[in-house]
Amino acid sequence: MPLPKAELHLHIEGTLEPELAFELAARNGVELPYADTGELRKAYEFEDLQTFLNLYYELMTVLRTERDFEDLANAYLARAAAQGVRHAEIFFDPQAHLARGVGMGTVVEGLWRALQHSEPVHGISTRLILCFLRDESAESALETLEAAKPYLDRITGVGLDSAEVGHPPVKFREVYEAAAALGLRRVAHAGEEGPPEYITEALDVLGVERVDHGLRCMEDEQLVARLVRDRIPLTLCPLSNVRLRTVDTLAEHPLPAMLDAGLMCTVNSDDPAYFGGYVGDNFDAVRSSLGLTEERLRELARNSFLASFLEDDEERRAR
Ligand code: HPA
Ligand code: ZN
Repeated sequence: MPLPKAELHLHIEGTLEPELAFELAARNGVELPYADTGELRKAYEFEDLQTFLNLYYELMTVLRTERDFEDLANAYLARAAAQGVRHAEIFFDPQAHLARGVGMGTVVEGLWRALQHSEPVHGISTRLILCFLRDESAESALETLEAAKPYLDRITGVGLDSAEVGHPPVKFREVYEAAAALGLRRVAHAGEEGPPEYITEALDVLGVERVDHGLRCMEDEQLVARLVRDRIPLTLCPLSNVRLRTVDTLAEHPLPAMLDAGLMCTVNSDDPAYFGGYVGDNFDAVRSSLGLTEERLRELARNSFLASFLEDDEERRAR
């Protein structure tokens, strides 16, 4: 039995497996510049975040209809359930779809068609987190939040993703204030490739409750002390860090040092179709490469529920 866990850092578009990408391309008459899944898989060699994002945005063009988003989410939920996931807080990137003429309603309703049956079918409770693309303008983020207003009963929070360096959190102050006023929870990617200052800024300026990645906090002792003191959860993604070359090898991942420092770490998959594994695979990888004890692994799983946006009684039931 895999350890029951919550997944808090998962981009639904990053769960698009090559087989489903080709199936949807055929269904929607979209031409992919790869002969077959084998050739596509050969493109999964990334130098950094940007080289990954280029492929991520290219492949998601096969997603066009509500049914496509429903199929994508169902495929993820089935795989996650098999790896012990009981609760998933799922990121989606509406701007990447709106730019292609795919409406907010198509994305949210399509995902919802899968999520509304997730508890009985997969045994997974879910939340949706709308992410703003930080390499797009602040105005575009505000327009995106406006477009999401009819769907706020289905959206729990907002996040910030895509190319980090050069796009500091402060750029999104206004849209995060507007999101908070609407009662939305707030998270942001920070300190993946960007400097520790972006983590501080995400906390101080955007008011985030959780930091996605946050790996580079380890370069700033005072920041680590603050994150420990305030019990700010970090959603780490070890296999992603290796594939995007944020760390050289898994054996050198700072997760053990982060746990020793008292940081509230969780382990997640990020974009599992691209980075070589789902969340259970990430747990297996850190167990074998970092020699984490069973007790540490249980701590990571427990943290995932504590750091989630589940209410207290729901949280207990999920565990
Ligand atoms: N980092 C930033 N943006 C992203 C990622 C990531 O790992 N995956 C999808 N969008
Ligand atoms: Zn991410």
